[in-house]
Amino acid sequence: MLKRNGNRGEAFREKLNRANAVRAKVLDEVKFIRSWAQNPLRTGAVTPSGPDLAAKMASYLTPRPHSRVVELGPGTGVVTKALMERGFSHQQLNLIEYSPDFCDLLSLRYPGMKVIQGDAYALRATLKHAGGFSLDGAEAGQKLDGIVSSLPLLTRPEPVRKALLDEAFGLLKPGAPFIQFSYGLVAPVKPAGYGISVISSEWVWKNLPPARVWVYRKGH
Ligand SMILES: C[S@@+](CC[C@H](N)C(=O)[O-])C[C@H]1O[C@@H](n2cnc3c(N)ncnc32)[C@H](O)[C@@H]1O
Repeated sequence: MLKRNGNRGEAFREKLNRANAVRAKVLDEVKFIRSWAQNPLRTGAVTPSGPDLAAKMASYLTPRPHSRVVELGPGTGVVTKALMERGFSHQQLNLIEYSPDFCDLLSLRYPGMKVIQGDAYALRATLKHAGGFSLDGAEAGQKLDGIVSSLPLLTRPEPVRKALLDEAFGLLKPGAPFIQFSYGLVAPVKPAGYGISVISSEWVWKNLPPARVWVYRKGH
C-alpha cells in the first residue's frame, strides 16, 4: 500500500515537473515574441532556438577545469542550458545580453552566473566595465576558451560584424572558437583576408527555421 502511494507520488511529481517545463517554455515564447515585437532587428528571431541547435553549438566546446566561455545574446537561455548540459559550470560562463527583461529572467534561472546587461558589439568594454572575466593579462591563460553567439549578425552592416570578430579573436586563446548560428546560406561574416578559418555544421532541420552553426578560428 505504502509502495503504491509512493509510486503515485512519484508519478504526480513527474507530471508536475512536465507541466512546469511546458509552462516555462510557453512563457519564454511569449517573452520572445514580445521582445521581437518591440525590436525585431535586435531580437532577430520570433521564437527561441530549439534544443538541437543549442546542443550543436555547445558541441564545439569541451569543458576543462579552468575554461572560460562568453555567450553573446543568450535571450531566454536555451544555449546557456545546452552549455551547462555539456558540463560548463555557472562560474565558467559570462552572458552578455542587451535586453534587461531577458537579463532578469537569466539571473533568476541561473543564480550565481554572471549576467551582463550591455552591448555585445562592444565586447571588451562591456566585459571590463561589468567586472566580467579579467581580460587584462597578456598570457593565454587569461584568455577565453570560446565565444558562443546567437546575435542576429545579419541585421548589422558587414564592417560591424568584422569588427566584432576581430575583437573576439583578441580575447580568445589561439585556435579557440567563435561559434555563431545562422539561418542563411552563406557564412554570416566572410572570413577572407583575416587569417581566420570557418567551417559550418550540417543543417539542423529540427530547428524552426532550420539553421547551421558556423565555427570561426584563428591561429591554429
Ligand atoms: C536570435 S536571439 C537568440 C536568443 C537565444 N540565444 C536563442 O538562441 O534562442 C538574439 C539575442 O541577442 C540579443 N542581442 C541583440 N543585440 C544585442 C547586443 N548588441 N548585445 C547583446 N545582446 C544582443 C537579443 O536581445 C536576443 O536575446
